Amino acid sequence: MSDTTAAAPVLELRDVSKSFGPVVALRSGSLRVDAGSIHALIGENGAGKSTLVKVVAGVHRRDSGTFDLGGESVDFSSTAESKQAGVAVIYQEPTLFPDLSVTENIFMGRQPLARGRRIDRPAMTAEAERLFSRLGVRIDPRRPAAGLSIADQQIIEIAKAISLDARLLVMDEPTAALSGVEVDRLFAVARSLRDEGRALVFISHRFDEVFALADTVTVMRDGSYIDTRRIEETSPSELVSLMVGRDVDDLFPKVPAEIGAPVLEVRGLTKAGVFHDIDLVVRAGEIVGLAGLVGAGRSEVARAVFGVDSYDSGSVSLSGRDIKAHDPRSAIRAGMAFIPEDRRKQGLVIDSSVSRNVAGVIRRSIAKAGLITASMENRAAGPWAGRLEVKTNALDMNAATMSGGNQQKVVIAKWLATDPQLLIIDEPTRGIDVGTKAEVHRLLSELAGQGLAILMISSELPEVLGMADRVLVLCEGRLTAELDRADATPEAVMHAATHHLETTA
Ligand SMILES: Nc1ncnc2c1ncn2[C@@H]1O[C@H](COP(=O)(O)OP(=O)(O)OP(=O)(O)O)[C@@H](O)[C@H]1O
Ligand SMILES: [Mg+2]
Repeated sequence: MSDTTAAAPVLELRDVSKSFGPVVALRSGSLRVDAGSIHALIGENGAGKSTLVKVVAGVHRRDSGTFDLGGESVDFSSTAESKQAGVAVIYQEPTLFPDLSVTENIFMGRQPLARGRRIDRPAMTAEAERLFSRLGVRIDPRRPAAGLSIADQQIIEIAKAISLDARLLVMDEPTAALSGVEVDRLFAVARSLRDEGRALVFISHRFDEVFALADTVTVMRDGSYIDTRRIEETSPSELVSLMVGRDVDDLFPKVPAEIGAPVLEVRGLTKAGVFHDIDLVVRAGEIVGLAGLVGAGRSEVARAVFGVDSYDSGSVSLSGRDIKAHDPRSAIRAGMAFIPEDRRKQGLVIDSSVSRNVAGVIRRSIAKAGLITASMENRAAGPWAGRLEVKTNALDMNAATMSGGNQQKVVIAKWLATDPQLLIIDEPTRGIDVGTKAEVHRLLSELAGQGLAILMISSELPEVLGMADRVLVLCEGRLTAELDRADATPEAVMHAATHHLETTA
């Protein structure tokens, strides 16, 4: 054989299927990943990406199809088996043991033993230090895992994978909860692993990340393989049409809305060390964008306005009525809805049906004589879930088994069903695929057109500039600019997000 013959790929899946009862999660998944490459896996919410990953990880067993690692057929029935075979999967939210040290987490279950019986701690710590320096990151191996950022926890999972000499690393939406700097560090680590000859699979809904990191990209749709492209031979628009199988309408379909009376009025809101002297007004029909860098205090302001967090001074009123501080119930009663950033943790009753989740907040209004039946929940939830294209076969499906993006849509549906006057939405489209993104934007725009006041926090500048009537910029806990739609250029927003206002007073 000549040496130009390609080596067997590290991972090769062909026509893999997986069903859960009546739900076909994966119809025909195929993926071929070579050593020394970073392979992006993309597709709309519910396309089957995570299910495919779970087959590779040994969480699920495939129903049919072939699965080869390094040219040999495998069939894992546990995650331990996949680890043994050199597969490491890094999830969006790693599950370290908080009470154990960083080092103990890395060597969990296979601590090197000093001669005789004792665990050789110094050797473990030294090895952990060596791994971190090889990855170019600084984490104290002796500290407990509790309190580490998600970014650091992922790095520890990666260090663990390398110490096990994993040949395949799979990262399922690793960047969803990371800041810009943390994403850069993760990418640097990923590239160095690729350069060592390992194979990486990277799942993301962000095209900028896919184009920055991957050399190859595979698109999935409705549980099936669609196509694979070299990154330099494709474009975002080609990938979008492969993903959705149709042309996507313009993002940010802003419809002009009549702007009415002030709905939300915030005066002098201050929380020491977090945000200072925040004045803001959102009028009926208006979308106000709250822009700024990660850590500028945007989510903190939103949480204080809604009352999930307290504040030191200032006032919040809704349609002229004062809202008690730190009392989200009274905020909800007054007509506020708040869709938080971390929807999986804060917004969803995971072990409950879609209908129950959507109807949860409006329980009181749909209950007749204190009784709620499943069919009443379905009636209340149906229209909203349908509007957001929550892809579930039935509304009584358990939210825990839904894809990540679909879980987020359920949370949005749940709040819209309360018929609020003000909607505060933090990162409305994070983790949501392109097709649905346009849908969410259209929906927000329509709701504003019907008179809803919307305060929208977003780290995606095009989203803020495309959707907002007015943009407020926060920098280090202070408002540094208020820009009308016409004046809100990327430069103006970025300038205000990174520089304090030169006050004239
Ligand atoms: N354990 C399960 N039981 C029932 N249905 C499931 C289960 N796991 C996944 N599904 C369904 O399979 C489909 C594919 O889900 P999957 O999580 O693989 O999508 P995904 O491509 O990762 O989406 P996202 O981008 O939103 O994370 C979804 O419709 C989901 O509801
Ligand atoms: Mg997923």
